[in-house]
Amino acid sequence: MNFTSIILAAGQGTRMKSSLPKPLHQIGGVPMLTWVLDSCHAAGAERLVVITPKKGKTEEHPATIDGFIDSYSKLRNIDVITAEQHPQKGTGHAVESAKQALKSYKGVAVITYADTPLIYADTYANLARALAEDGKADIACLGFTTDTPKGYGRMIQDSQGNLVKIVEEAEATPDEKTITLVNAGVMALRLPEAFGLLEQIGYRGNKGEKYLTDCVEAAQAGGGKILLLHADEEQVMGINDRQHLAKAEAIMQGRLRHAAMESGASLIAPETVFLHHDTVLEPDVIIEPHVVIGPRVHIGTGSRIKSFSHLEGTTTGACCVIGPYARLRPETHLGEGVKIGNFVEVKNTAMDDLSKANHLAYLGDATIGAEANIGAGTITCNYDGVNKNQTQIGEGAFIGSNASLVAPLSIGARAIVGAGSTITSDVGDDELAVSRAETRSVAKGATRHRSRLKKT
Ligand code: UD1
Ligand code: CA
Repeated sequence: MNFTSIILAAGQGTRMKSSLPKPLHQIGGVPMLTWVLDSCHAAGAERLVVITPKKGKTEEHPATIDGFIDSYSKLRNIDVITAEQHPQKGTGHAVESAKQALKSYKGVAVITYADTPLIYADTYANLARALAEDGKADIACLGFTTDTPKGYGRMIQDSQGNLVKIVEEAEATPDEKTITLVNAGVMALRLPEAFGLLEQIGYRGNKGEKYLTDCVEAAQAGGGKILLLHADEEQVMGINDRQHLAKAEAIMQGRLRHAAMESGASLIAPETVFLHHDTVLEPDVIIEPHVVIGPRVHIGTGSRIKSFSHLEGTTTGACCVIGPYARLRPETHLGEGVKIGNFVEVKNTAMDDLSKANHLAYLGDATIGAEANIGAGTITCNYDGVNKNQTQIGEGAFIGSNASLVAPLSIGARAIVGAGSTITSDVGDDELAVSRAETRSVAKGATRHRSRLKKT
């Protein structure tokens, strides 16, 4: 069904004690606002309106909500409308800031907060549908029951269980404070009627705010009908401080791990594996304990990521073996059956099928042919202090241990580079290149050397 989402993101988030706006703090490696926008979009919202703080960078932090929304819209190819709220005078006032943006809109609006990123798309859709299908109701509220209601608005019901008003923590009487049914913050309203309700509400509290929650009492007073839907606590938790942020991250990681396993990957110790919002693990991928996966990682079927590896911006073909202790940095692209062993760092490098770098190497800005073998301690010297330079290694090439490959450099197919060589000029196909001092052995030299040392 069609509805519009209004996402409130203009608040100061003072309890985060941060110069970064709260909606841009990350969960699963992306700003929490991403999750809210994605869920509203997935729920079928035809319009997304975000209420943003005053435009422009703050002195303290270059990242802005407007900047984020620009890149989000481009990345997802979704239109997001923004409406500025300045100064911030409460959640009700924030919704009124959308008046201009929605002036010709008639229909259901679902209001949600940028600081509740764990809400599922279905929850938004259900709330919108409940209001639309009940011809008489003015508002549909979402509540939940909690053992720790502190900080949330308490939902006051009459003897028949109808919601009559929502009382904020600061204004609740000691009796009201014991109520464990609280406001999740998500509400479905009808537009343009809701703007009329908001006009009837005054500014109050010590900060002179207009509370969205006061719509409930205003609608009741006008003989209106309020629906109350219930959610589970885990889904609707609001993030107000760093403790909440860590708790929400843990919940989100649980969901990401669950989804990865549902799609056919094995996580041997799921609670020690950290995934990103966009991680793709194909079926029969095995992730050993203690692996951290950053943005833009896609692991091909049958691959194994061994313990203590760290991956970002990496794609692999089928049946690769990575780690333990591997570091794959952005723009690492591996073909099928590639092996990356312990203490190997790879960056901006493509490795073709069945190539290997099994131990202690740095491969940066390189292309490595199929079945090439990169010996232990091999370094691509890709940076001259000013520019990054490319290294090409042909298929079937064998790079001996501890080679320094000074880029720009090309090493031909099936070429061999002797161990310990520093290679500064191109090596052709099938050539052997060695650049190191000859070995000189002196008969009894060790004995003489030792006795000299003992005398001094
Ligand atoms: C709010 C609810 C409370 C509910 C709780 C659920 C009100 C008055 N209170 O309280 O009943 O239990 O959420 O998490 O609605 N915002 C603006 N402009 C403003 C003020 C806030 O855009 O002027 C935005 C914030 O950025 C935030 C959201 O609204 O995303 C909620 O504001 P917050 O201050 O966190 O409200 P709570 O005190 O948590
Ligand atoms: Ca909040």
